[in-house]
Amino acid sequence: MLRKYHTALSLFAMIFLFIVACSGVVLSVIPTLHKASLVSIPNGTQNVATLAQSVTARYGQVSRMERNQYGDMVVYYQKQGVNAADIIHPRTGERLATYHPSAFVVWVKDLHRAFLLGNTGRMLAGMMAVIMTLIVVSGTFLLVRRMGRWQALLTPIKGTGSTRIHAELARFALLGLLLSSLTGVYMSAVRFGVFSNESYIEAPFPETVSGGQPMPVNRLPVLMATDVNALKELIFPEPDDLQDVYSFTTRNGVGFIDQSTGHWLQFVSLSDKGHIQQWITDLHTGEGFWWLGLILGAMVLTVPVLSFTGAQTWWRRRKARPVWDNNVIGNDVISAPEVLVLVGSEGNTTWRFAQELTSQLQQAGLKVQCTEMNQLTTHYPSVRQLFVLTSTYGDGQAPASASQFLAKLAHFTPDHMTFCVLGFGDRQFARFCQYAVDVDKALHQTGLLRFHNVSFIHRSSSLEWQQWGRSIRHETGIPLSLNAISAPDNTLALTLFEREDFGQDPTTATSIMRFQLSPDQTMPTFDAGDLLSVIAPHSTGPRLYSLASSNTDGVVEICVRRHAQGVCSTYLHRLALGDQVQASIRFNVSFRPHYTGKPIILIGAGTGIGPLMGFIRNNRQSCPLYLYWGARTKAFDFLYETELNICLNDKRLTQLHTVFSQDSAHDGCKRYVQDALLNDAVALLDRLENQAHILICGGKDMATGVALAINEILKPTSVDVDTLKAQGRYLEDVY
Ligand SMILES: Cc1cc2nc3c(=O)[nH]c(=O)nc-3n(C[C@H](O)[C@H](O)[C@H](O)COP(=O)(O)OP(=O)(O)OC[C@H]3O[C@@H](n4cnc5c(N)ncnc54)[C@H](O)[C@@H]3O)c2cc1C
Ligand SMILES: Cc1cc2nc3c(=O)[nH]c(=O)nc-3n(C[C@H](O)[C@H](O)[C@H](O)COP(=O)(O)O)c2cc1C
Repeated sequence: MLRKYHTALSLFAMIFLFIVACSGVVLSVIPTLHKASLVSIPNGTQNVATLAQSVTARYGQVSRMERNQYGDMVVYYQKQGVNAADIIHPRTGERLATYHPSAFVVWVKDLHRAFLLGNTGRMLAGMMAVIMTLIVVSGTFLLVRRMGRWQALLTPIKGTGSTRIHAELARFALLGLLLSSLTGVYMSAVRFGVFSNESYIEAPFPETVSGGQPMPVNRLPVLMATDVNALKELIFPEPDDLQDVYSFTTRNGVGFIDQSTGHWLQFVSLSDKGHIQQWITDLHTGEGFWWLGLILGAMVLTVPVLSFTGAQTWWRRRKARPVWDNNVIGNDVISAPEVLVLVGSEGNTTWRFAQELTSQLQQAGLKVQCTEMNQLTTHYPSVRQLFVLTSTYGDGQAPASASQFLAKLAHFTPDHMTFCVLGFGDRQFARFCQYAVDVDKALHQTGLLRFHNVSFIHRSSSLEWQQWGRSIRHETGIPLSLNAISAPDNTLALTLFEREDFGQDPTTATSIMRFQLSPDQTMPTFDAGDLLSVIAPHSTGPRLYSLASSNTDGVVEICVRRHAQGVCSTYLHRLALGDQVQASIRFNVSFRPHYTGKPIILIGAGTGIGPLMGFIRNNRQSCPLYLYWGARTKAFDFLYETELNICLNDKRLTQLHTVFSQDSAHDGCKRYVQDALLNDAVALLDRLENQAHILICGGKDMATGVALAINEILKPTSVDVDTLKAQGRYLEDVY
């Protein structure tokens, strides 16, 4: 949610913030550029009276002396009846240069403060300052979430590409951007009267003046007592007007001086609040602190880059979402559809098939609605035919977009439709297309009739898909001629750059393998628990490996056990550092822990520790997290030993329970991870009663043993593993 607000605000304000930032950077360097030509003198070396005397001696009719925003002393005078201004030396009053306020600077200021749009622009600029503050604050929380904790903000940032650049720059510029935007908000609020402007004060004009002969300016006591560095403005009285006065503004206040006595006639001093307001303005503009201006400028300079990299990341995420043409497919409700196509998918491949089916049905003149299975409503009075296309995930379970389907089916009224189910799966899994089978059965149980028997497609086979299309045409008369669906080419070239080898016997060894993406490719978005699909040369098909890393780690990390005569595992184990493999990411979004504060129980054996290690690394909120893990020997097979201990110390891991089957075999009784569970039964039951959820990763036999053990532990209660599965509290990644 936070990321949504951050992105929406940034995209909305992008162009305006770009203008404010670029003009702000230009304004911030001006004081520094000016510094080279600025003449300044130490305090106590000249007073205003003596300087005014030298200036009048040189220029004759002087109307005003002021210190401008860059610190120059400027004198305004009349020369042959024409107004002119010079920059003068603050001690001697000697002319240094003619003073011309730069038209460019005035233009940039107007652009920065009001987008050249007058009062409307000023309001817009104020709004942008508020938006910028919200972006910085939300960005800070996102950064902390990414780094895990506030203390980690200064530690190295992982990841690659634009996401990494975005995070690094955001961290560098955070304080500066916050200071600039907050002071900007405050200045706008003062400008529009939300707060009174106490840095701008005026003294009432004196009702009476002495009217005596003017005293020479170098003898006026107030001016003699004021250091030149405190002067902001001195307006001279009109010549020959004995009733006129000096108007004098210093850092401390403003007032009028009698030209005959040289004493204050009126004086209003700047309040503490006025001083603070002045200081806030100086902080924002960098005026008076040229170095601060430069630092803020460098930080503000990051805004265009942050906008660009942020937009790039947003676009990449958007592209990674399921792609469908809204006219043809999606979750839009179409009035009185005749055909309903429901889609169950996790990795999005099934959507591609559904899209092809939907457009062919539409070409056949039918009114079709295509939507995800979770969107099932209670009844569809106009629908005559229902197609369900679904994949299977986990160990025969529903994919993400169908996870609520069976529950919703309980409230479904069948009406007059007939249905058919098409399953997408992979014969490498024991429960091939099991979810499609379950859905077919459940729909039939509602009283619906099939117009075609449940069918299955192995590994997205185009051949099987086209065959299915032909048999639907044959049975329904709908003129379908389904096209082959090509898989999107999202193959990555990965280079092995690090490996850690475990195990005594090289033919069944296990390795932690870390790959890097080739520099010309963009790291796709993935998380620990997703899968790497590896294609070994001359193999029969891809093999899946559970990912231990996230894209933000900047590496692709898997744990691979070598199978004797196994094609892909042997190929991977024979890789040398620097070798490349072809692979792609397969999403497995249901296999994720929920860091809500409720206990998380991770159970695995052997390579199953891969994604579990990733989940532990990501537990930056320090949720109660317990790992039960089994392997062969402590001496040779203890994967991630050092990192697990680090996580125990920094509380990302609450408890670690390991079992080593070979080490425990000396008493003739090998112990496995399920024995560790039974040993800890009381604590586990307590956690499960506290709404814990369980994630299991590793081999099938281990998973079967674990399910038996958990059922044993749950015996005193009314729930079992199936109940936990139905509640989404028992997730498996089993192979
Ligand atoms: C969702 C999922 C996640 C997975 N995650 C991981 C993981 O994180 N780590 C991991 O290591 N694995 C994982 N796997 C398993 C992995 O995908 C492969 O199945 C495994 O590496 C074996 O592939 P292979 O090509 O080496 O074996 P294959 O060539 O496919 O052989 C399969 C089996 O047959 C045996 N075999 C082959 N030929 C012969 C022969 N002539 N005689 C006797 N036996 C033979 C092999 O030893 C092997 O056990 C996962 C699987 C799935 C489905
Ligand atoms: C983690 C995981 C578990 C899977 N489990 C099964 C399974 O139990 N049975 C099956 O037939 N296919 C299984 N598959 C294969 C998918 O169902 C198949 O690849 C399908 O085409 C994916 O479609 P989708 O991308 O639309 O979700 C699994 C795939 C993954 C990645």
